[in-house]
Amino acid sequence: MPDISDLFVKNKKWSAEIHRQQPEFFETLSKQQKPRYLWIGCSDSRVPANEIVGLLPGELFVHRNVANVVVHTDLNCLSVIQYAVDVLKVEHVIVCGHYGCGGVQAALERRSFGLIDNWLRHIHDVHHKHALTVESVLGDGKLDTLCELNVIEQALNVCHTTVLRDAWARGQSCQVHGWVYGLRDGLLKDLGMNVSGSAEIAPVYGKVLARYRTKA
Ligand code: CO
Repeated sequence: MPDISDLFVKNKKWSAEIHRQQPEFFETLSKQQKPRYLWIGCSDSRVPANEIVGLLPGELFVHRNVANVVVHTDLNCLSVIQYAVDVLKVEHVIVCGHYGCGGVQAALERRSFGLIDNWLRHIHDVHHKHALTVESVLGDGKLDTLCELNVIEQALNVCHTTVLRDAWARGQSCQVHGWVYGLRDGLLKDLGMNVSGSAEIAPVYGKVLARYRTKA
């Protein structure tokens, strides 16, 4: 078992390296944060938000849970969105899933892991909603397709929160995005679910889903 004290050694090295590059970095950052982006991603250890988009501490407000799910009764996620939009005034909310997501796979294969099965019911719902599209894809493509559709549905849920609706109603500029990350190449893909106002929700969602119907 690796010694947990290794993490403190690594932390000291990390802090010293940043301090060497920018002596004022931590002092400046300790006074305030002004991130322009909210990232809602999967807890998967292979999808580290800041690293993927090359952003430093202070530049990305982050919420992560298993399979990047946005549920209207999840006070944790909703509080993050509310604080990010209302107080920090982020300009972009990014829902980022990833291919090969274990949470999505468990839901797709109806596998059981205990308590988390309840959380993954939300992915079952996405599967159920898009069953024809997912089932029309062959082999491994099924999982990739459900990972993408899950991102689109969760981004749609962000758009439907009272937080975004109210922000848009008062004229605040904030754009919602749906992205998927490739574990094999480290690259992000924009799924086209880019919404900057209530009136755009239905047409953008419709256009994004139409692509899957053409593929299927
Ligand atoms: Co995942």
